[in-house]
Amino acid sequence: MDIHVLDALARGGFEDVLALSDRRSGLRGFLAIHDTSSGPALGGIRRWSYRSENEALRDVLRLSRAMTHKCVLLGLSAGGGKMVVPHHTGVDWKGAYRYIGEVVQRMGGRYYTGPDVGTGLEELGWVADRTAFVTRPDSLGPGELAEATAEGVFSGIAASLCHLDGETDWPSRTVVVQGLGSVGSCLAERLVGVDARVIGADLDTERAKDVSTRLGIELVDSSREFDVACDVFSPCALGGILHDLTVPRLSCKIVAGGANNVLTKPIHGDALHSRGILYAPDFVINSGALIRGARFHLDGVRESVEAIGQRIGLTLGEILSVAKEEDRPPARHAFDEAESRIGKRREAQPSREQEL
Ligand code: NAI
Repeated sequence: MDIHVLDALARGGFEDVLALSDRRSGLRGFLAIHDTSSGPALGGIRRWSYRSENEALRDVLRLSRAMTHKCVLLGLSAGGGKMVVPHHTGVDWKGAYRYIGEVVQRMGGRYYTGPDVGTGLEELGWVADRTAFVTRPDSLGPGELAEATAEGVFSGIAASLCHLDGETDWPSRTVVVQGLGSVGSCLAERLVGVDARVIGADLDTERAKDVSTRLGIELVDSSREFDVACDVFSPCALGGILHDLTVPRLSCKIVAGGANNVLTKPIHGDALHSRGILYAPDFVINSGALIRGARFHLDGVRESVEAIGQRIGLTLGEILSVAKEEDRPPARHAFDEAESRIGKRREAQPSREQEL
C-alpha cells in the first residue's frame, strides 16, 4: 500500500522528513524528525534490507514517533528522530556513514544520532568523523547502552510481577528470554543473579550455547520458546514476533522484553489482554539506552543503571495501574498517554508571533 507522505506527516504530527541521496557513496535513505518541542530529536541509524522504499519510509515514521513516545513517558527533555538506510550492494559504506555525519552536523544539534540495527561501533566511528552529535557505545563505555536497556527490562519485569502478584519472588519465577544477544544475555545474567529460572532461545545456536555455558541457563530450540509454560516471556530479538499465530501459543502471565515493536499490530496487544496476559509496552521498558544517551549528551550526567531501572519501573507501574483502572490494554493506554503529553508540550510552545 502506498503512503501518502504529506498526509501521513500531518496525521502523525511529524516535523520533517528528509529524503537522502548521496551520489558519491550511493547511499539512499530517510531522516525523520518527529518532535523537537522539548529538546533535540534522538534516534539511531537503522540499516536494514527493505523490500521497497515505501516500507523504509513507513519504518522511519513509526520508529521516530516511538522515540518521542519513549521521551515523553520517561520525562526526558528530548523528542524522537530516526534515520533509515536501506541495505543494498554497491554502497561505499564508509563514505555513506561519513555523509550521514555531515547531514547530522548540518542539523546543528537538532538531531542526535546513534546505534541501531545494522549500525554498530565501526559505522558510528565514521559518523563521528563528521559530527559530534552522535552517541557511540564506546563514548559511554563498552556495553553501557545494552546494559541500561537490560536493566530497564529487568525493572519492567519486576514492576509487572508486583502489579499482578504484589511481589517479585524471583526464585519461584521462570523467564523465557528470546534472543541472547547484547540485551538478552545481559538480562539473563541479571535474572540468574536473583535466582530466577531462565530458559533462553537464539537462532544462532553457537551464541545460545556460549551464553548457556557461561550463565548456566537452560535452552529451548528457537521457535519452540513460544510454547514454554513460564511466568514471563521476554522478547529480546526482533520486532513483529507477536501475531495471529504466536499469541495463542503463549503460556505465560506477562510479556516484557527489550525488542522494539514486539506487537505486529495494536490488535495483538488487545489479543494478549483478552487472554489475560499482561503486556509491558516495549516503548516504556526498553528505554534504558535512550535515557542513558539523553542524560549523557543533554545533561552531561552518567546516569547509573539503578536510577535508570528505577525510573522505568516507576513509570511502568503507573501505566499498568491506570490501564487496570480503565480496563484497557496497557499498550493502548501508554500510546494515548504519550500522544496527550506531546499535545500538551506543543501547546506550551510559544507561537510564531510570540517568538518575534
Ligand atoms: P543483538 O543483535 O545483539 O541480539 C539479537 C539476538 O537475537 C541475536 O543473537 C539473534 O541471533 C537473535 N535472534 C534474532 N531473531 C531471533 C528469533 N526469531 N528467535 C531467537 N533469536 C533470534 O541485538 P540487541 O542489541 O541485543 O537488541 C535486541 C533487541 O532489542 C532489538 O530488537 C533491538 O532493536 C532492541 N533494543 C536494543 C537496545 C540496545 O540497547 N541494544 C535498545 C532498545 C531496543
